[in-house]
Amino acid sequence: MNTTLQDLGISSGDVILEISYLIAAVLFVFGLKLMSHPESAKKGNLWAGGGMVLAMITTLFLHRDADGSTIGMTNVVVIVIAIAVGSVLGAIIARRIKMTAMPQLVSFFNATGGAASALVALMEYSNPENTSALVTLLGLIIGTIAFSGSMIAYGKLDGKVGDIFAGWVKYFNVALLLIIAALTTYMLVVDLDPGMQTLLSYILLALALVYGVMFVMPIGGADMPVVISLLNALTGIAAAMAGFIYHNQAMILGGIFVGSAGAILTLLMTKAMNRSLLNVIVGAFGGGGAGIDKEHGSIKEITLSDAAVLLSYSQNVVIVPGYGLAVAQAQYACNDLVKLLEGKGVEVKFAIHPVAGRMPGHMNVLLAEADVPYTKLVEMDDINPDMPNTDVTIVIGANDVVNPAALDDPSSPIYGMPIINAHESKNIIVMKRGMGKGYAGIENFLFFNNKTRMLFGNAKDSIQALVSEIKEL
Ligand code: TAP
Repeated sequence: MNTTLQDLGISSGDVILEISYLIAAVLFVFGLKLMSHPESAKKGNLWAGGGMVLAMITTLFLHRDADGSTIGMTNVVVIVIAIAVGSVLGAIIARRIKMTAMPQLVSFFNATGGAASALVALMEYSNPENTSALVTLLGLIIGTIAFSGSMIAYGKLDGKVGDIFAGWVKYFNVALLLIIAALTTYMLVVDLDPGMQTLLSYILLALALVYGVMFVMPIGGADMPVVISLLNALTGIAAAMAGFIYHNQAMILGGIFVGSAGAILTLLMTKAMNRSLLNVIVGAFGGGGAGIDKEHGSIKEITLSDAAVLLSYSQNVVIVPGYGLAVAQAQYACNDLVKLLEGKGVEVKFAIHPVAGRMPGHMNVLLAEADVPYTKLVEMDDINPDMPNTDVTIVIGANDVVNPAALDDPSSPIYGMPIINAHESKNIIVMKRGMGKGYAGIENFLFFNNKTRMLFGNAKDSIQALVSEIKEL
């Protein structure tokens, strides 16, 4: 006897839903692949977003609970209204935001993802039909930490929240983690009445909120990139947990993709910053302080005409871009400078530090926007061996990523972080507006180096003036 799908209680709607999740998964993977290169990243975003829209639409109209009930028209209308409000608000914020404030915005959006997953877990924990208490509680904890941690990261990136560096914080954080673990275990093993369940879930939420704040609070200056990628990973994991609660494959997959991409990025960042992941989790590294107060020495400036001559008669030039390049929006001018120098037979490369700027890949995206060929961007580890043979290194709006204190000053908060060895090249030109410090808030002795000459001014104006000067030679 042939068994049909109907005999098994599977409708054609169920089949279409599963197929749509499969298509969405393929679109996520394809989109992620495209996102791995700046030139195709925009398309990748659209493909992955398309996959998510498909999964959302089919879930709304085809999802059925175990008892066969659908979402129901009233709920569909409420959900569509919520999506519309969220989409409009998101689009307005994203359109209005300045490019330089993008990292804060990403942190803010990450916080909302964590909050949404935590709320799902909070609601479902006391639902008697929920069969996965462990996953629900983990989703609640992780989503809440991702929310409060990302809000603090948002505040820090926006300059609204300062750092706290008290030594007790790491002990406090370890104690808090232990309390959270103990409470979670208690909630899993003891048969609680509904009132107690609700009370304890709110206490857990409060503890996780405090932990999120306290583990990001002490992370100072240059160490923020590691935390940002970790928070990203946490939001993805929390979303995957929410997917497990609802047995929704698309949600699980989307969460796992974000979680694993964030986890890989976190490992890359810890490697790039030479930090341990355990220290990040208890908020035990970073911090301010100005490093040891060395004799500064004196600053030497360079005139535009001297800089033009020096660059035109060099054989090879390395440009180290940093956050200031993004602030000045000098990427197009920078590309003009590269083309001009190459026209004169000078070999030009960009040295890309993994945490230059304010978000992972910031410099790659910025330079891709100005059509700088990707082949010219050389990673830190690959360019450093060439630095002693470099005629001129131009540091444009970079500071922490070329600060030799990371190599030779054990008291510096950035000690141990690998840098672009600009100080090893034969000549160094630094373009910045004044003697402003970098994100880590510490002095940079590269600027006082004998081989360094400063070209003060807004990076875009300085590069444009330099281009004109070189053209007149
Ligand atoms: P920073 O160390 O932040 O230094 C940027 C420099 O650019 C400043 O010293 C500033 O000096 C100069 N500047 C600002 N506006 C300028 C303009 N319009 N024209 C010319 N110069 C300008 O940058 P970096 O070397 O790229 O290092 C990045 C830092 O951010 C690291 O500490 C990193 O850990 C941290 N961070 C990175 C990320 C990610 S994921 N990349 C996330 C969070 C934090 P003046 O004021 O004197 O001009």
